[in-house]
Formats: sequence, C-alpha cells, structure tokens
Amino acid sequence: MYIKSINLKNFRNYENQFIEFSPGKNIIYGLNGQGKTNIIEAIYFFQKGRSYRSQKDKEIINFKKEYAKIEASFEKENSKSDAFIFISDKKSIKVNGIQIDKLSELVGEYSMVIFTPDYLNLIKEGPGVRRNFLDNFISQIKPVYFKNLINYYRVLKQRNNLLKSRNKNIEDTLFLWDEKLSSIGVEICKMRSAAIEKINESVNLINGDNENIEIIKILYSPSIKGDYCDKENFLNQLKNSRERDLEKGITMTGPHRDDFDIFMNDINIKKYGSQGQMRSCVLKIKLSECEIIKEKTGEEPILLLDDILSELDEKRRKFFLDKIKNRQVILTCTDKEDFFEEECKLFHVEKGKIY
Ligand SMILES: Nc1ncnc2c1ncn2[C@@H]1O[C@H](COP(=O)(O)OP(=O)(O)OP(=O)(O)O)[C@@H](O)[C@H]1O
Ligand SMILES: [Mg+2]
Repeated sequence: MYIKSINLKNFRNYENQFIEFSPGKNIIYGLNGQGKTNIIEAIYFFQKGRSYRSQKDKEIINFKKEYAKIEASFEKENSKSDAFIFISDKKSIKVNGIQIDKLSELVGEYSMVIFTPDYLNLIKEGPGVRRNFLDNFISQIKPVYFKNLINYYRVLKQRNNLLKSRNKNIEDTLFLWDEKLSSIGVEICKMRSAAIEKINESVNLINGDNENIEIIKILYSPSIKGDYCDKENFLNQLKNSRERDLEKGITMTGPHRDDFDIFMNDINIKKYGSQGQMRSCVLKIKLSECEIIKEKTGEEPILLLDDILSELDEKRRKFFLDKIKNRQVILTCTDKEDFFEEECKLFHVEKGKIY
C-alpha cells in the first residue's frame, strides 16, 4: 500500500500543508528543527491512532491553535482508503467516513514500518522496548492479538489493584483474576513465540555480502517458565508467586514481563556485539518485519525512515537501499546530496513549510 497525500492543519509546526507523495521514494530534507520528523509522526499517527512521540494527543496541536487535523489518502492493493483525525479536547478518527470508536478497530488498517534514530534501543534498552516491538508487529499481522493484549492489561490492572488493596480474604477474587489472566496470557505467549519463529525464518534470508554472513537468531524468554502454552502451568506459577505478589503489590509473573534475546552467530549481541553489528541486526529484523507483514496481509507496508541512513557506512547504506526497493519509502535526512542518484521525489522543509 502507499500514502497518496496528507493534509496537515495545525499539526506541530505546520499550519496548513498539503503533501502529495510518490508511490516510490520520497525524500524529506532540511535543517534540524524544521519539521521533517513531524511529517513522519503525522503519517504514523494513522497506524495506531496516536503519536509515537507524545503520550498526550494535545501536544501535537500547534502552540498557537486550539485544534489539529490530519487527513490522508491511501491506496491499497485493491481499494482506496481515506482517513481523518481531529484533535482538540477530544479525539475523533474516521476511516472512509466511518467513525472509529476504539483504537483497536484501526489496527491493521494501514500497514507501516517505522525506523527512528533510536532503533538500536531494540537491543540496548530494557525488555519494555522489545515487548513493544513484538506487540506492534504482531498486532499488524493479527489484529486479535491487540484485543488480547488490551484485555490482558485490563485484567492485570485489576489484579494489581486487588493486591495493593491489602484486603483480607481476597483469595477467591484473586483466583478469578488468575483464571482470566492465564487464559489470555497463554494466547499472548503462543502468538509471541510464533512471531519470533517467523522472524527467525525470514531474517536470515535477508543477507548482505556473502563473505560476512551473520546468522541472526532470536530466542524468546518468557516470564512463565516451563510450558507457557499450558494454562495449568501458567496458573500454578501465578499461585506460586502469590505471596511475593502480595508483598510487592504487583504481579511479578506473566507476559508483561517477557523478553527476548538476540544472537548473532551464537553470540548474545546485547552483551558482546559491536555498534555496527547491532545496526545490521536491527535493520535486518525490521526488514524481515516488512516481509512478514507483506506475506501475511498481502499489503506492502509503507516504510518510514527518520534520519537513519546517515548513521550507516557506505556499504550498509547501499545494502539497505537495495533491500527497500519496490515499495513506498518516506525518508528524512538533513542533506539530500548524501545518497541519491536514484529517482525520487524531493521535499524541502523549512520552518513548517514544504517547498
Ligand atoms: N505543538 C507544536 N506546535 C508548534 N511547533 C511545534 C510543536 N511541537 C513541536 N514543534 C516544533 O517542531 C519543530 C521540530 O520539528 P521536527 O522534530 O520535525 O524537526 P526535524 O526537522 O525532524 O529536526 P531534526 O533534524 O533535528 O530531527 C521544532 O521547531 C519544534 O519547536
Ligand atoms: Mg527529526
């Protein structure tokens, strides 16, 4: 799929801006602080119905205005899709004129994969970043996963509230929450494990130069020990950690504490990988994310690349640009001279205006 156009009204430093994209490569260039990432943010808003940069929707409204509006036209494999987002004190989202009541209805509607400058955090940071990556990825290929996740976190919150309440005689109620948590939890674990296997199958097909083949393997590290597909086992572990949970006032076991480890040629890359190896590794994982989304949904995802190519050496940049051919790419950079001999549509950004 590709995005044909976007119309920004009072979005960050854009007061009124219409942009028409090419279905191929689009290069948004300009100096720091001019509004390049803001465009990536506006496009990606349609993926989840919220910003990937701000927790609060209102932060995207231009400082001097009361509301913001983003309209976009997408072209899919066999259909068109128009979307509309309005943000003031409330948020309203429409797809083809139909109001979206829950953000879960939007999941999977627009396929996009984003690379931002902090993409190395997938390796370097804590497990939350890796869970987010998985959650986002699986939701795009299996919308039911997103529903499970919302349910899981709802039940988890209720269980934690109960633990914190320190009421006596909570055993029966706790048992009810444990039942629910383990039913949904097992489904989440299964889907995470399957998604990781899928990435493992696909990631090593994306090989760079043959002299230096790096075999990447991701190992799921679930918080539930033993058979995480077995509800009884899940329940038992909740039961076993109950005393500790009560003491801490939070649930210490379950998919909300999952992680995964990434190995390159059998070496744990977080502990021993070089900066360059980490970059190759994440890029390949993200590329395989695109391939799997394409395979599972039939739609080529839109690639949003925010200022990442400047960090790659010549060889990696060439490799990467070669791999992202034949799909829509929206790429930001500070210097357009950097990399393009190829055909692409150029947009120069200056102080919230496109030239
Ligand atoms: N709500 C807002 N209202 C008005 N302007 C805003 C708002 N939020 C951010 N900005 C402005 O947007 C600009 C930053 O835009 P953006 O992050 O897109 O820059 P950039 O071109 O990607 O820069 P860099 O090259 O440094 O990454 C800043 O000047 C900032 O003050
Ligand atoms: Mg930026």
